[in-house]
This record gives sequence, C-alpha cells and structure tokens, in this order.
Amino acid sequence: MSHQPIVVRQMDFDFPDDIDPVVVAGDPEQSYLIVGLSLLLPYLEPYLIRTMKEAKKHVTDADLTDDLERFSAQEGQHYRQHILLNTAIRLDRFPRLAEFEKVLDADYRRFSKSRSLRFNLAYAEGFEALTTASARFSFELGIDPNMHASVSALFQWHLLEELEHRTVAFDVYDHVCGGYAYRLLAGLYAQWHMGRFIRRVSRYMLDADPEAIERCGGRAQLRERRRKSAPDVRRLLLPKLLKTYSPFYTPHDIPFDAELEEMAAKFSALARSSRG
Ligand SMILES: [Fe+2]
Ligand SMILES: [Fe+2]
Repeated sequence: MSHQPIVVRQMDFDFPDDIDPVVVAGDPEQSYLIVGLSLLLPYLEPYLIRTMKEAKKHVTDADLTDDLERFSAQEGQHYRQHILLNTAIRLDRFPRLAEFEKVLDADYRRFSKSRSLRFNLAYAEGFEALTTASARFSFELGIDPNMHASVSALFQWHLLEELEHRTVAFDVYDHVCGGYAYRLLAGLYAQWHMGRFIRRVSRYMLDADPEAIERCGGRAQLRERRRKSAPDVRRLLLPKLLKTYSPFYTPHDIPFDAELEEMAAKFSALARSSRG
C-alpha cells in the first residue's frame, strides 16, 4: 500500500490559445522534447488506465485497490490537461505530427489487446520509474524560468502527482505478477519505446522549423546548450534512473519531503476540486 496520500485534483489551467511551440524561450531543442512528451501522454496515460482496469480484477488487497483507482483517476486528469495544452500550442506548421501520433495510438491499442497483463504492467512501471526519477530531477534542478508559465504550471502539477502515486504501478505489478528480470526488460523496452516517439517528434520539429533554431542562435548554440546541461543529467538524473534498474529498487524508499508536501497543498488549494 502507498503511505503517500494520492489526491485527485481537477485543475483549471488557463491556457492561452496561441502558445509558441518553442515553449522554453531560446531553447527549441528542449522545447520540442517537452512538446513530444506532451503529445505522448494522451495516448500513453489512457493505456495505463486500461491496464489498471484489467489488473484490478486480480487485486485482492483493499488498500491497493484504492491506490489503483486513485492512480487511474490522476492519470485521467493528466492526459485531459495535456490534450488542452497540445491544442493550445501552435502546431499547424508540423503536419507530420498527426502521422506519428497515429502510429503511437495503434501501438498502445495493440498492447492492450494482444500483450499479456504482465507486459502491460511492467511497461506501466517502466514509465512510472522513469517519471519518478525525472520528477525528482526536475524539482531538484528547479523549473526553467524560461518555460512558458502555463506549460510550467501544468508540468509541476503533473510531476508532483507522479510522485504522489509513485508506488502504485510497482505494487500492482508485484501483487499481480511479480518478477524482477521481466519487469526490468519490459520496463527498458517501455522507456525505449516512449523515447523513440519523443525523439522522433523533436527531430522532425527541429528539421521542419530551421528558422526557430536560427532565431535562438543557430546549431552551434544548440550544441552549446546540450554541452552545458549534460553534467546535470550525469550528476543528478542518471544515478536516480540507474537505481530503478537495481533488484533492490522500491519506490517506497523515495521520500516525499516537506517541500513536496507544500507543493501538494498549493495545488490542492488551486484545484477546482480535490479528493484527498
Ligand atoms: Fe501522469
Ligand atoms: Fe503516473
């Protein structure tokens, strides 16, 4: 069972309808990775919810069933907000995105239909372990002040809730199927599969809009920004991610500190409604 309250919040983000695709001012590369992630979620998170619905039939622990329901309710709110954001970003200059999304949608529908529940749960935990590590990294580093305010607010809320429900996919996998090696391999596949979509989106957007790169200092600046961010990734993100691959990893060991509690309270207060 999770010891962290998993609060289901309905948020009212006020997205303007003309957000520039360069959502981090001056940094098209980081921006397009964020756009890629935001485009992934309205397909990935419904797939997680379908997986949990199937898993629920096999869960015999009342507390875990409660966690599972809250997990799905949070994910349901996340992808709905990402759809609103994705609609608000001016993506009309990138017609091939619809094609990439179609392939992704078909993948997830196929996984739900023909892959085992064990695979789908291990995929879910592969995503959750990665988002837990990434959320901790993002909060440690601090949100980029150049990020569009609406995008920043959405991601802070989303990452916070990812940390609130960080134990659920792990526990459901353990309860229903279990097995470290399988979880690791299917989880690595999940991370590769998601990463491939995000990189495809980002590469395509960079190629389709060379003007955005020029406006932000050209290819040389792009390489320089990447060189500057690499040490943070190596020092702060990589160790967290590598730990999730250990047979001794459990998200129950990851603390939810006072700063996160404060942020959770802030978002509960901002929410249109919240169920604690
Ligand atoms: Fe989510
Ligand atoms: Fe999640």
